[in-house]
Amino acid sequence: MSEYLLEMKQIVKKFPGTLALNHVDFNLKSGEVMALIGENGAGKSTLMNVLMGVLKPEEGEVYLQGTKIEIKSPYEALQHGIGMVPQELNLVTELSIAENIYLGCHQKTNGIFDWKKTAQNAQVILKKLKVDIDPREKVKNITAAFQELVSIARTLVFGSNIIILDEPTASLTIQEKDHLFEVVRMLKSEGKTIVIITHHLDEVKELSDRVTIMRDGTLVKVCQTDEVTTDEMIFYMANQKVEKNKIIKRNVSDEIVLEARGLTRKGEFEDVSFQVRKGEIFGVAGLVGAGRTELFSCIYGLTKSHSGSLYLNGKEVVMKSPVDAIANGIGLVPEERRKQGMFALLSIYENVMMPSYHTISSKGVINFDEAKKRTNRQIDAMRIKTPSCNTQIKNLSGGNQQKVILGRWMEKNVDILILDEPTRGIDVRAKGEIYRLIREMADNGVTVIVISSEMDELISVSDRIMVMHEGLVKGFMEPSEDMVGEEILKVALK
Ligand SMILES: Nc1ncnc2c1ncn2[C@@H]1O[C@H](COP(=O)(O)OP(=O)(O)O)[C@@H](O)[C@H]1O
Ligand SMILES: [Mg+2]
Repeated sequence: MSEYLLEMKQIVKKFPGTLALNHVDFNLKSGEVMALIGENGAGKSTLMNVLMGVLKPEEGEVYLQGTKIEIKSPYEALQHGIGMVPQELNLVTELSIAENIYLGCHQKTNGIFDWKKTAQNAQVILKKLKVDIDPREKVKNITAAFQELVSIARTLVFGSNIIILDEPTASLTIQEKDHLFEVVRMLKSEGKTIVIITHHLDEVKELSDRVTIMRDGTLVKVCQTDEVTTDEMIFYMANQKVEKNKIIKRNVSDEIVLEARGLTRKGEFEDVSFQVRKGEIFGVAGLVGAGRTELFSCIYGLTKSHSGSLYLNGKEVVMKSPVDAIANGIGLVPEERRKQGMFALLSIYENVMMPSYHTISSKGVINFDEAKKRTNRQIDAMRIKTPSCNTQIKNLSGGNQQKVILGRWMEKNVDILILDEPTRGIDVRAKGEIYRLIREMADNGVTVIVISSEMDELISVSDRIMVMHEGLVKGFMEPSEDMVGEEILKVALK
């Protein structure tokens, strides 16, 4: 009998222009929590998708309890007791929680679908996962955290022994994350084997027994989690030391480009006043729910304020829609990059040039050669890692997708760029690159507004930080070398 519950041996997976997995070995011991880590694009999701039968590898073998198996579809994986909650949840949002949990595994009585039984059984599983919510509720009405738990419930009804969670915590609040971890520990105590993919090394330390580290499609290290420090993990992932972000004091002009006076939108934010200068990097801090996204959605013309006023370069403006905002030189990179920020199926050059086509068209005909030329310029300047500018954006890693979206607004020459959680789901090194790009833009005179829940990020990148809590501005702070995240929290909660 093998020491391992599951073994993947010498897996090779190629995509056009990319060797995504280069003879990778991966194994799991029964009842352990395995962290699978690596920078964006390292091949983590690909490896797990091969295991689930979503992707067919060119080479390699899979053994379950010492027996060679072939998994050709996720359904077959489930038959073998392997379930996955993918990075992009694939729930049917128009259906109820109960229907989603039992999709493909319907509860029948005398051969007939039994919705009552389905709802009752769903209730039992949800209770076990400590989700206190009516299973008849539609999935589209529940939080991302609950959707994650519903997806876990789905793997459980199929009797999965191995449960793979691909970046489950990327958009969760601290409390939601604690809840999820409690669930993971509970499943482990029941003898389940868990694989968790995450960029948060503190989570790896907190939760996992062993860790598998990948880089550029290869396996670099497998060990007990307590045998490596966080710095060593970073070193293995990046193959270089990643410097802690230093505070850089920048000179910013006195010219005020954006000013809010008493902006209010009832139930979202109240009496918000601030001034931002040309070329300033203006951080906006707060806990999830502080009203930051709502405030800047309003400034961007997505919603209307109930009172207060907004000034651009000293002139009062009313943004009726994002079209107005863009015409006034404002760009927004939304929080949900995949859903709101990009055209997933389109190429990189289309994603970059979309709002700028009019600048390279004559008589209604777009000059595509020029579009590609300009995009290639952005690809070089931003060091975007891609085989070509024709590649679909959905096939890039998160960090590179984010750079493409920044490239779009650079091409558009915006004066003010609002970034909502710009590095969410992005690895340490790619984060450093995004910070570098933000500083470059600001040095070129662009005013950059960075909304972030990561206090350390705001301290290292901002010239000034506005702190919000429950819709109110609680104060302004200037980052310094020795400033720590807790200081911002204290201002938020005072
Ligand atoms: N469907 C696909 N088509 C082409 N390339 C892909 C596809 N999926 C992933 N890739 C590429 O394979 C590599 C590994 O990606 P992925 O497994 O998603 O990385 P990770 O999950 O570690 O961030 C990346 O270079 C990515 O761009
Ligand atoms: Mg991934």
